[in-house]
Amino acid sequence: MCGIVGYVGARQAQDVVVEGLRRLEYRGYDSAGIALVHDGRVASAKRAGKLVNLEKEVAGNPLPTSSTGIGHTRWATHGAPNDANAHPHLGRERRVAVVHNGIIENFAQLRGELESVGHEMSSETDTEVTAHLLELEVQAGHDLTVAMQRVCCRLEGAFTLVAVDGADPDRVVAARRNSPLVVGLGEGENFLGSDVAAFIEHTREAMELDQDQVVTITREGVEVSGFDGSPAQGRRYHVDWDLTAAEKDGHDWFMRKEIYEQPRAVADSLLGRRTPEGLLQLDEMRLSDDELREVDKIIIIAAGTSFYAGMVAKYAIEHWTRIPVEVELASEFRYRDPILTQSTLVVAISQSGETADTLQAIRHARVQRAKVLAICNTNGSTIPRESDGVIYTHAGPEIGVASTKGYLTQLVACYLLALYLAQVKGTRFGDEIGEVMDQLDQMPAHIETVLANDQQVYDLARDHFDSSSVLFLGRHAGYPVALEGALKLKELAYIHAEGFAAGELKHGPIALIEDGLPVLCIVPPRGRDQLHAKMLSGIQEVRARGARTICLAEEGDESITPYADELIRLPQVPVLLQPLVAVVPLQLFACELATAMGHDVDQPRNLAKSVTVE
Ligand code: G6P
Repeated sequence: MCGIVGYVGARQAQDVVVEGLRRLEYRGYDSAGIALVHDGRVASAKRAGKLVNLEKEVAGNPLPTSSTGIGHTRWATHGAPNDANAHPHLGRERRVAVVHNGIIENFAQLRGELESVGHEMSSETDTEVTAHLLELEVQAGHDLTVAMQRVCCRLEGAFTLVAVDGADPDRVVAARRNSPLVVGLGEGENFLGSDVAAFIEHTREAMELDQDQVVTITREGVEVSGFDGSPAQGRRYHVDWDLTAAEKDGHDWFMRKEIYEQPRAVADSLLGRRTPEGLLQLDEMRLSDDELREVDKIIIIAAGTSFYAGMVAKYAIEHWTRIPVEVELASEFRYRDPILTQSTLVVAISQSGETADTLQAIRHARVQRAKVLAICNTNGSTIPRESDGVIYTHAGPEIGVASTKGYLTQLVACYLLALYLAQVKGTRFGDEIGEVMDQLDQMPAHIETVLANDQQVYDLARDHFDSSSVLFLGRHAGYPVALEGALKLKELAYIHAEGFAAGELKHGPIALIEDGLPVLCIVPPRGRDQLHAKMLSGIQEVRARGARTICLAEEGDESITPYADELIRLPQVPVLLQPLVAVVPLQLFACELATAMGHDVDQPRNLAKSVTVE
């Protein structure tokens, strides 16, 4: 949510900043803007809409050359996404420029104070007050670093701020509280970004910061301090992916590229998880086996797609470990006064590691003395840093707003966690765990098989160009898959889509069925249980009422053929692992349908990839 860039060095700051914004645009694309320091003053440009509008603006009205600059791509919170509310915002004398991600909760009071002494605001944003306040501080004789420290002490809420001072051309100063910010460390140049994608083209050396810190970058170095001015240190790390991972690689959308990367991503997420003796190991788990043996309840918290990964995890963890699992939306968690004890393990699933709802939920859990384990894709992000342990998903950077490889690798991490708990608690024999690990190792090949059938799914998607509503049915681990399939379609194609537990159909949703309504049915593998037969009944029920059934069923399952208007084949896999293959056609379906409808698949309207406000 909102992408932020800062640069100081020998290059043209405009080029570096705009390129950085392009790589961060997935975080928000309501407007974009840039400010450069030139000749003792700040020059800025900003435009509503996507980054391309800003690029057109600066092509027509070039900004002066400069080697110090900041930029912003916005996901609107305060004020409509128009030119005036776009960042950067400037102080009264236009000496200081600021970009901001987050929400300043006491901005109305600060704005009132400033207006009472004659300041006029030119936007509806909460950000503009910080530009005025910073400028007052530098005018009073403080350097920009001290000015930032002093202003931050007055702010409430969550924010990343990045600022330049026209009278101090060689530094960019930033601050963070509960909002993402990383530093890129170069030679004779340094960078700031909401995440490393902003500067990965220039350096893979990065530094992460703690909460409530101010960082000053110059050409020569980086200095970190607390809001109170006390000296502090950031933590340096090396980024283990490079620019090619952040490019589209010949695909029309990042999302499509990321769908096809899933076999590799799943393979990577399984790498190095077994010792030579065949025991499971989870690096960075940080929670001891003794602590895990104490766990008597697990609560999984997450948002969006990650929440649906959590729903699958419940089936796996309860089945393999017999530990009761609750799955809760992060945004609801702390408001219901959840029952947490020292033996509760809270598992926070977040691709970005920055989702504010999830972050606040884990903070609440830790205050209540529960242990927190993060499942996360982003090294150095806040949620794993504030957790007791982490399982990284190793999907590589995910740029498409709709999560795909992030989701599949979260599923893998959930299975690994479940098996690890089973190993530690002794609820499964070693050979049983080894057998599931072997099945997981086959998953990349199975996902390849599903992807090889992409044309059938694409044709089907284009056939549904004029559908106004699509339903998804699943049972057991297929139920969260149905929910995820529906979410993808809502996010990307903007059509009404709902996922239902197939057994619940007859209790209400069946009333929605009308002639020709497409219903995608995730058919569980045939097994000893009743799942398959019950699903078959559900499919017959909707078909009898006129639905057009599109069934996803395993290879060799002929019982489904009479009831399927369309049949998409899935590889034969165990029921608990089926989400790893079943969700893939649903991703392809949503991606292709949205493309056919002319929508921007990577940047769906009103959404942002990382939502850093509650
Ligand atoms: C946003 C994104 C979703 C994502 C959710 C959770 O709403 O648009 O695609 O699933 O956040 O994100 P996280 O990074 O915490 O997994």
